[in-house]
Amino acid sequence: MSFYITTPIYYTNDVPHIGHAYTTIACDIISRFKKLHNNEVFFLTGTDEHGQKVEKAANNANLDPKQFVDKVSVNFEKLVSDLGCEINDFIRTTEKRHKIAAQSLWNELIKNDQIYLSHYEGWYSIRDEAYYAESELKKNNNKYFTKDGSPVEWVKEESYFFKLSKWQDKLIELYENNPNMILPNSRYNEVLSFIKSGLRDLSISRTTFKWGVQVPNNENHVMYVWIDALCNYLTAINYPKLNDNKFTNFWPATHIVGKDILRFHAVYWPAFLMAAKLDTPKKIFAHGWWTNEGEKISKSLGNIIDPYEIINEYGLDQMRYFLFREVPFGNDGDFSKNAIANRVNADLSNNYGNLIQRILSFIVKNCESKIEATQNFTNEDYELIDKFIAKFEEYQNNFENYQIDKSIKSIMELLSHTNTYVDTQAPWSLRKNDIKRMNVVLFLISNIIIKSTIMLYPIIPSSSKKALSFFNIDINNVNFENFTKINNKDLIISNPQPLFPRIEL
Ligand code: MSP
Repeated sequence: MSFYITTPIYYTNDVPHIGHAYTTIACDIISRFKKLHNNEVFFLTGTDEHGQKVEKAANNANLDPKQFVDKVSVNFEKLVSDLGCEINDFIRTTEKRHKIAAQSLWNELIKNDQIYLSHYEGWYSIRDEAYYAESELKKNNNKYFTKDGSPVEWVKEESYFFKLSKWQDKLIELYENNPNMILPNSRYNEVLSFIKSGLRDLSISRTTFKWGVQVPNNENHVMYVWIDALCNYLTAINYPKLNDNKFTNFWPATHIVGKDILRFHAVYWPAFLMAAKLDTPKKIFAHGWWTNEGEKISKSLGNIIDPYEIINEYGLDQMRYFLFREVPFGNDGDFSKNAIANRVNADLSNNYGNLIQRILSFIVKNCESKIEATQNFTNEDYELIDKFIAKFEEYQNNFENYQIDKSIKSIMELLSHTNTYVDTQAPWSLRKNDIKRMNVVLFLISNIIIKSTIMLYPIIPSSSKKALSFFNIDINNVNFENFTKINNKDLIISNPQPLFPRIEL
């Protein structure tokens, strides 16, 4: 099976912050989970480099737009690897391959009679790169603003239009037939009711600035940044070469996006695709927004969370873990230093790290670092094994619906259970009077630790690899096939070290 997952491409008008990191890590987690299921994964991210917003940012920095985006894009690309994310491609919309793809998509829409030339007049927000109806705005000091506070200005220009209104019924039909295509469900309902409230044709070109992909055969127009940007998902798999392996193998994609840009992905994008006679996305998941200690994150408030600061203070896996355990994926969440410390201490240091540490150091000290394989399990052992099987099933089902927090919770429940098992079986007492039983108990605990560690791998990949190395296991040699079976293999322990030191509050 192949699986194509995408982040939104990030605007190159700013430095990356925790919100950008969040979407990228989400895709990394999902793609690692899919790889454990032996899927062939294509994971795409990149930067959205055109449009008036970027042009203005370049002007403010006294740079030519291309020089400016070259500089800013690098920060986003570097962040991906610094977040421990394994991508397959990083796309920039200023690349030649993208210009070709975007213009081909445009030509295809022209060919299918989906575009016409007319005039546009309306309230435009540069920050959102979108037009608004007056009913969507609020007035302050004789100026109009969007509900999120972006200023809008009255714009009149010649514009190409996409016949979006024609696609209203098809979109309704698409979503009524595929109720799981947009997740979470509340977002599905929101999108469907937006479509049902009526769609107007969409202005898809601009004449007031030049920083964009030129409209084919009309040099006065550049493409509206959203049609240009959305097309990146096709560019990366070699569109317009429809017979290309990459294209046939990976399209359609699963898009992970923030709730603020769901409309572009769930209304405009599927309509463009249908109009170009291409398949609509497989799934669109909209996640929530992070606030900082209760406040909306914004540059003007000066409370942007720098992912590097969190990584330096708490560690990369600690940050990844916190972001996806603390808040249900899809909901808004509040970032606070207290919350990250508490979460890491309770789950990673106490529940997981201590278990590994105490069992492995016991084995090193008392068993010459070796445990012989056995299947001599008692009823109590089978109870723990059954628990593991049940929790693994929960973990998978939740992951399939992108309920990552619940998946993690299942692992933590399994680990709590294992800790209780350790206490009741008390290998330290067995050492004195029943070495054989002690061996069985340690073998089972070690195996459950290995299983939990593999289940944690998508979320905390580098710690998980390290923990597996204590058992001489290479992550590249494991997957979820026959996962519920307890291996009949001797275990040799090497070099166990503490993984998650407690964070002092
Ligand atoms: N360039 C467009 C996307 C085009 S996709 C074809 C864009 N870029 S963005 O840089 O403004 O935002 C990228 C992503 O970051 C969005 O999914 C957005 O929701 C996410 N976030 C930005 N701030 C965020 C938080 N405070 N919290 C969580 N995610 C946030 O939109």
